Amino acid sequence: MKRIIYIMCMALSALTLCTACDDGRIPEKVRDITEKGRVATLDADIAGTGSWAKGYTVALAGFTDDGTYAEISKDIKPDANGHVNLTLPGIPEEVTKLEVCVINSIRKRVVTLYTTTVTDNGDTIRIKPDAAINAGMLAAIQTSLFDKQCAHCHSGSAWAASLNLNDGKSYAQLVNVASTKEPGKMRVLPGQADASVLYEALATNMSSPDEGNWKHDHSNIMVTDRTGLQLLKDWIDSGAKE
Ligand code: HEC
Repeated sequence: MKRIIYIMCMALSALTLCTACDDGRIPEKVRDITEKGRVATLDADIAGTGSWAKGYTVALAGFTDDGTYAEISKDIKPDANGHVNLTLPGIPEEVTKLEVCVINSIRKRVVTLYTTTVTDNGDTIRIKPDAAINAGMLAAIQTSLFDKQCAHCHSGSAWAASLNLNDGKSYAQLVNVASTKEPGKMRVLPGQADASVLYEALATNMSSPDEGNWKHDHSNIMVTDRTGLQLLKDWIDSGAKE
């Protein structure tokens, strides 16, 4: 009888253990060992990986054609000289693109830094970008947001609100700089997105009379890009690093 109770206890504790680790995410190491598939190597110089806020990972990741979530990924951790030599095995068949990119905690692509199409021929896929990659958090915001959605109004000779968001200018124009539109507030107050006009402008309709009565409603720009808006918020909240 004692023996039976002992066995039952063991079975029960094994069951509890299994449920405890089953949080729906497959640990990467297990994927690598158990799955067959193609292998990729990355040989690159990558700067700025340390500037990311918690929850973001600079990674080599595989995506399907129109996928926005990584099918497989491995964290990129450059050595002291900023160099990366990394092997990603077990790339599933459905993966058609490999990217040096930033993914968030649910493996969703936040920004792409380098991309390459992969073929089926079974050889090792060697990725060796020609130039060094700037993977910094602000650099990602600059290329994915400021360059594409803002600079045409906030640059050149027509700087709306005397704000220049061109590459190389944006940091000095934003961080700890007084707002021209909202007296008493900073454009970016490091650590406090909610008190920063940059975030307020994109998250709220500032053209409404209750808010700033601005000419231009910026919140439209981000309606379809909640990941981008969150990225901006996390950059400010984590200290708005250069
Ligand atoms: C269509 C032109 C246009 C686009 C595009 C645009 N802005 Fe603006 N922005 C303005 C104007 C005009 C103002 C002045 C406020 C007002 O009256 O609307 C302004 C004001 C601002 C301010 C306030 C500056 C201060 O000193 O208080 C910030 C911050 C800002 N914009 C950021 C952005 C960002 C970030 C983007 C891209 C996501 C962007 N803007 C895209 C026209 C634009």
